[in-house]
Amino acid sequence: MKKDFLSIADLDRKEAEHLIEQAHRMKREGTPPLLAGRTLALLFEKPSLRTKVSFDTAMYQLGGHSIYLSPEEVGLGKREPVADVARVLSRYVDGITARTFSHETLRILASHSSVPVINALSDLEHPCQALSDLLTLYEKKGRLAGLTLAYIGDGNNVASSLLLSACLVGINFRLASPPGYDVSAEVLNQGEEFAALSGSRLQLTRSPHEAADNADVVYTDVWTSMGQETEAEKRRLAFSGYQVDNKLLSLAKGDAVLLHPLPAHHGEEISAGLLDDPRSVVFDQAENRLHLQKALLAKLMANP
Ligand code: NVA
Repeated sequence: MKKDFLSIADLDRKEAEHLIEQAHRMKREGTPPLLAGRTLALLFEKPSLRTKVSFDTAMYQLGGHSIYLSPEEVGLGKREPVADVARVLSRYVDGITARTFSHETLRILASHSSVPVINALSDLEHPCQALSDLLTLYEKKGRLAGLTLAYIGDGNNVASSLLLSACLVGINFRLASPPGYDVSAEVLNQGEEFAALSGSRLQLTRSPHEAADNADVVYTDVWTSMGQETEAEKRRLAFSGYQVDNKLLSLAKGDAVLLHPLPAHHGEEISAGLLDDPRSVVFDQAENRLHLQKALLAKLMANP
């Protein structure tokens, strides 16, 4: 049976921890050609730097090959129905990585494809980012369970996957977002279920200070995600007071790390220059997309 990866909820705790360990090993010891002769389609409706390059490079390093398909040439759901794209690609390639506006498009792709479909960001989740973030924390802190992560900002796709993955592996998760920008009730309920099993604590607050207080990790993401550009001004107002700056970061533990999935809007969600602070590990975090995704691709595509 092929396995898709659309949401963090598609994994159990053991699988998530195993992927992180595998990725950690591949990073240190190199990558065996586990996907020689295999091909991955990269189907993108939105722009990408890290995701596109890290998946492409991951396939190359695993001995396989990838094909990037831009929005214009495929016209998902416009030039051709999503279900037909899934059925055609399944005849050529061994896996599909897709970045879509609507999560529903991913579900249709997955249900009509006979090869694994991986979520490379949708409106609901960004699960490859979240697992790469856990890999970064595992490297920097030597453990995951028992850490406290403060996410300051929009309850968006990145926040949702991060919340779920943190609760899954026993990281205490604090979310500080302004009214109207919370994570969805579904994500919260799922997170509560994971937290009850792993023993982590899930806390919601309106106060960035309360969230950051004595945290091991401070995390933020853009206030205006791809596709929300017309709301940028409204969001700037709603999120004023939610910027991560030196003062806020200094409320966290002395050895706390700062994470951001990038791209960053310097001077908005993160103060100018803070990415260069010694506590910032954002470029290690970006690199870890590559290592984590190699482990993920090997898991999903090596033994169909
Ligand atoms: N929340 C951002 C993440 C980009 C990696 C977006 O969806 O644009």
